[in-house]
Amino acid sequence: MSFRLQPTPPSRPNRCQLFGPGSRPAIFEKMAASDADVINLDLEDSVAPDDKDAARKNIIEAIGDVDWGSKTLSVRINGLDTPYWYRDVVDLLEQASDRLDQIMIPKVGCAGDLYAVDALVTAVEAAKGRSKPISFEVIIESAAGISHVEEIAAASPRLQAMSLGAADFAASMGMQTTGIGGTQENYYMHREGERHWADPWHWAQAAIVAACRTHGVLPVDGPFGDFSDSEGFKAQARRSATLGMVGKWAIHPKQVALANEVFTPSEQAVLEAREILAAMEKAKAEGAGATVYKGRLVDIASIKQAEVIVKQSELIGAA
Ligand code: COA
Ligand code: MG
Repeated sequence: MSFRLQPTPPSRPNRCQLFGPGSRPAIFEKMAASDADVINLDLEDSVAPDDKDAARKNIIEAIGDVDWGSKTLSVRINGLDTPYWYRDVVDLLEQASDRLDQIMIPKVGCAGDLYAVDALVTAVEAAKGRSKPISFEVIIESAAGISHVEEIAAASPRLQAMSLGAADFAASMGMQTTGIGGTQENYYMHREGERHWADPWHWAQAAIVAACRTHGVLPVDGPFGDFSDSEGFKAQARRSATLGMVGKWAIHPKQVALANEVFTPSEQAVLEAREILAAMEKAKAEGAGATVYKGRLVDIASIKQAEVIVKQSELIGAA
């Protein structure tokens, strides 16, 4: 298998996914006017059981009525363990306009979950003659989800993105955490009277990135609950970007600019990446496989790293 090229993920910016409850249509226009690359209208946990029907109706109307610009428009359906999800899929696919791009499936636990939704979506698309296929994104937020992360990443050609949902994940794992994402008070190393906080999300994030990169899916960091803590949000987002994730959710409009800042490569980083590519071109012309750039070794692997940065900046520039 390793002689095959690693598949490239979808070519679209995904720096920030802004969420809003389907039961609160007054904010839909504000969401559309935001700088988020992806909009997630929610039918799941931010909508109370009694409001599910009204939220579905609001969302179906807004998909056609609101000007969403060039954003990726996604709806989070209810989990497969609820009585709501099939109605979410059927009503959305039968009634919403073609502007709908994507469905987000929460709490996936195995590849079969995607197969089930795919079968239903495929049937409704065919029955309704929908010409634009709906794509999928999933949330890994359970012990089963992380255990089967690789088969989930490979489960459907519709799958474009995968997010880590820290709060449900922590609950499912029995983790003694408080707060959604970020530093946890009791997760520290201790030496000579000093505490050093480590990152309890690291392992799950790295597993998601590896599964996504293997199968050409975009890896995304989920919510950070404390929207008054901008520095905490940025620190979490920077760790995710360092590990290979391409973006992060915003659960309040304040967080959009923070995510865009972290996941947009800086001018300096793009300039350096272009210089590394030029240095390697020169080395290649001289018959060398490696050279020195600003006092450090750059080689064939550096070309790939630099190309990631240049490609990300071109995608964002083109959006
Ligand atoms: N998208 C766009 N605009 C939003 C917004 C959102 N998700 N949430 C709030 N706003 C608007 C408000 O309408 C208000 O606009 P105004 O200045 O024109 O009056 C402004 O942003 C400031 O809002 P604020 O008063 O600080 O927040 P709030 O109390 O109205 O709402 C939340 C706070 C957290 C309840 C709300 O942001 C929210 O529902 N977030 C999404 C939750 C969600 O979808 N969770 C599921 C995924 S984890
Ligand atoms: Mg959740």
